[in-house]
Amino acid sequence: MSSNAHVPVLLGPVLNGLRINGDGCYVDGTFGRGGHSSAILEQLNANGRLIAIDRDPQAIGSAPQALLLDPRFELIRGECAQLQKFIGERNLTGEVDGLLLDLGVSSPQLDEAGRGFSFLRDGPLDMRMDPDSGRSAAEWLATVDEKELRQVLKIYGEERNAGRIARAIVAARDAAPIERTGQLSDIIAVAAPARGQKRHPATKSFQAIRIFINGELDQLTSALHQSVNVLRRGTPLRRGTPLRRGGRLCAISFHSLEDRIVKRFIRDASREPEQYRGMPSMPEEFRPKLKPIGKLIEATAEEITANVRARSARLRVAERI
Ligand SMILES: C[S@@+](CC[C@H](N)C(=O)[O-])C[C@H]1O[C@@H](n2cnc3c(N)ncnc32)[C@H](O)[C@@H]1O
Repeated sequence: MSSNAHVPVLLGPVLNGLRINGDGCYVDGTFGRGGHSSAILEQLNANGRLIAIDRDPQAIGSAPQALLLDPRFELIRGECAQLQKFIGERNLTGEVDGLLLDLGVSSPQLDEAGRGFSFLRDGPLDMRMDPDSGRSAAEWLATVDEKELRQVLKIYGEERNAGRIARAIVAARDAAPIERTGQLSDIIAVAAPARGQKRHPATKSFQAIRIFINGELDQLTSALHQSVNVLRRGTPLRRGTPLRRGGRLCAISFHSLEDRIVKRFIRDASREPEQYRGMPSMPEEFRPKLKPIGKLIEATAEEITANVRARSARLRVAERI
């Protein structure tokens, strides 16, 4: 497979989860290589609309001409944490019928050594999804203090050897700047050898540094909170009024930290706050905003065989009420 390829995960369940209306308005908050976007667009009629967002200029630059020329489609370079702004600027607040967040990194980001995400391919230690914003991993590692580094590895990577790895990184950078992924990966492998585990010893540390450098959990939390403002509200079924279905949120996460955030967000947004439970009336801002749709969805064994990225994918779906 070419390094530019990215196979969309859980495609069928995402399309079902979004419950696409042909003339609806959809947002793909993480365009990547446009696999999900292309499939959504195929289900829209001439009145449908799809707005896609990605913070990575290479993802934006790789969008196929056929998509870019499609009048129903628009591609925005930016963060999904700016969702409300992008949707507000287009006068579509409250009119979005479905939002997809397919988080994390794409296959091309991981595969291209030059992006600096991979511990398997030596390249400049960058790891920024948007190389024009913020500090690269190399810049951050050059000055971070050991305690902060240990916390990042422990919290974002759930790395048991965080202390040992942080100490080794700080000692190594005093000898020579850490500027390549290969260098970092070697330092970690020496500090915390694999000892019979299948995973490469740098897996969790690279994940942790990437999550930190890109502010991934803050982006996710922020996009989730904004989703309830942009999604169309459902109207309750009443005689004489047309049924208006609420917009759907589909969030695919790839590790437990992200999934926990999505799960808790949907749970909290679906509940009445304790102090109002059972009360006849409740201020608008405290009313439940979402209802969960179905249970957690994971890839089938068949999909995992065809696409190993699907192994850790977890999809949760909710509907705006
Ligand atoms: C897993 S890929 C998405 C793949 C896509 N669904 C497809 O089928 O091709 C994740 C993409 O989301 C982008 N991304 C991740 N976090 C983002 C954020 N906070 N804002 C905008 N784009 C983000 C990444 O740059 C990457 O291109």
